[in-house]
Amino acid sequence: MPGDDILVEWDDKYSVGIQLIDDQHKELITLTNTLYRGCRTGADAARTYFLGAIHGAVEYVKYHFAVEEKLLETLAYPAVAAHKSEHRDFVKKIFQDVKSFQEGKQFVPNTFVRFLRDWILSHIAVMDKKYMEYIQENVSRNVLDAVLLDLRKLYGR
Ligand SMILES: [Fe+2]
Repeated sequence: MPGDDILVEWDDKYSVGIQLIDDQHKELITLTNTLYRGCRTGADAARTYFLGAIHGAVEYVKYHFAVEEKLLETLAYPAVAAHKSEHRDFVKKIFQDVKSFQEGKQFVPNTFVRFLRDWILSHIAVMDKKYMEYIQENVSRNVLDAVLLDLRKLYGR
C-alpha cells in the first residue's frame, strides 16, 4: 500500500514492454504524487501550489501523448483515432478543471489528483495494453527498435 505521501505507485504489471513509454508513464505517476503531496498542505497553500505546478504537469502529459501517438501512427495501429481521442478528452477535462479553479470555483485538488490517478492507471492498463498486444503481434523487434530510435531523436529530452 502506498504511504501517506504517495498516492500511486508504479507496478510492473503496468509495463507496455517499451522502455521509452514505461519511463514516461513512471514520470506521470511521479507528477501525480508530487501534485498530491502539494495538495496535502493547508487549503490556501494547496491552491497556490497546485496552480503553479499543474502547468508543468499538463505540458508533460501533452509531450507524452505526442510521443505515444507518433509511435502508434508510425506503426499503423488500427485504433489510433480512438486512442488519440481519449488523450484529447483527458487534456480537455484537465484544462476545464484548472480553468474553473483559476476562476475561483470550488477547489478540490484532492478530488482532481485522484481523478488523475484513476485516469492514468486505467488508461495504461486498458488502452495502452491494447496497443502493446498489437505491437507484440504485428511488429518485429527490429522495426520497433528502429522506430523508437527515431522517436528518441525527434522527441528526446
Ligand atoms: Fe495512451
